[in-house]
Amino acid sequence: MTELKPVTEATAQKVSKPVMTPDAQTVTEVRHYTDRLFSFRVTRPQSLRFRSGEFVMIGLMGENGRPLLRAYSIASPSWDDELEFYSIKVPDGPLTSKLQHIQVGDQIILRPKPVGTLVHDALEPGRRLYFFSTGTGFAPFASLLRDPQTYEDYDEVIITHTCREVAELTYGAELIDSIRNDELLVELIGEDNLSKLKYYPTTTREESPKMGRITTLIENGELFSDLGVPPLDPENDRAMVCGSLAFNHDIKALLEKAGLEEGANSDPKQFVIEKAFVGDGI
Ligand code: FAD
Ligand code: A2P
Repeated sequence: MTELKPVTEATAQKVSKPVMTPDAQTVTEVRHYTDRLFSFRVTRPQSLRFRSGEFVMIGLMGENGRPLLRAYSIASPSWDDELEFYSIKVPDGPLTSKLQHIQVGDQIILRPKPVGTLVHDALEPGRRLYFFSTGTGFAPFASLLRDPQTYEDYDEVIITHTCREVAELTYGAELIDSIRNDELLVELIGEDNLSKLKYYPTTTREESPKMGRITTLIENGELFSDLGVPPLDPENDRAMVCGSLAFNHDIKALLEKAGLEEGANSDPKQFVIEKAFVGDGI
């Protein structure tokens, strides 16, 4: 059992009465990207097994001495020794107003019960796999993109990430760069498999090389002509979707229009969807 020190609003260092919990994990790295986004890594419980793409409950000890937990996609792959998370900072958010202040050596709570639908088992075999994401919806795909199975199972892997502004693409862009250039990742995924990966970042409210909502770019066919792939078809294409409720709703309609059906762990089909968060956004 590890001693967990609560993180208070003032600073991550200032602690009140320590509490004992078996689920404490130590922060090993923190990186800030914008005033709304950061990522961090923590130690991994030895007994924790998960499938790339799943989520867990994580959080901090509240000042009332009770855990304050939220769902978080594990952004690291299942083979990694540590766990990585990619997080929003909600100014008044009960958890993230505090979580954004964590520093290396601090502790968080992690409930080791991974679940989720964004897993390979929930899809029927196919030729081309699409990951459609907005905002922090990139997180489960940061896990799946570093999992060799993703490239073993498909001929092509397409990740789309749409954000309002260019800086919000940084975490994803750096991740893709590391898959292509980091020696360990290249070796794990296989150099021959790297050509299967196509990265398609777009922005909607700031100038960038590719602008527009991905839904618009699917509807007007630009996504397919830009990538040199045929339009969506249920025979060859599989998809995983993670974004806001409105985004998930609109992508689902487009996938269904193309003839793809939604699957689940217990009933694998052609696409699966998970919420990146609950609520209307900030
Ligand atoms: P909350 O009270 O939980 O949220 C306040 C409001 O902030 C929400 O109503 C919503 O409008 C907005 N909001 C919350 N989360 C986000 C977000 N991620 N992006 C944009 N707006 C948001 N969050 C992550 O940052 N990374 C993840 O990997 C992640 N995975 C999730 C997986 C699942 C299955 C679900 C259901 C949620 C996930 N979330 C993730 C959201 C997360 O659970 C919390 O909502 C988030 O950490 C904010 O917590 P909070 O207590 O500060 O604010
Ligand atoms: P837009 O700027 O046109 O709203 P948010 O931060 O609101 O979650 O949005 C993240 C990204 O997802 C933004 O680029 C946003 O575009 C886009 N987006 C939001 N809702 C939808 C939707 N229903 N369909 C497609 N893209 C969406």
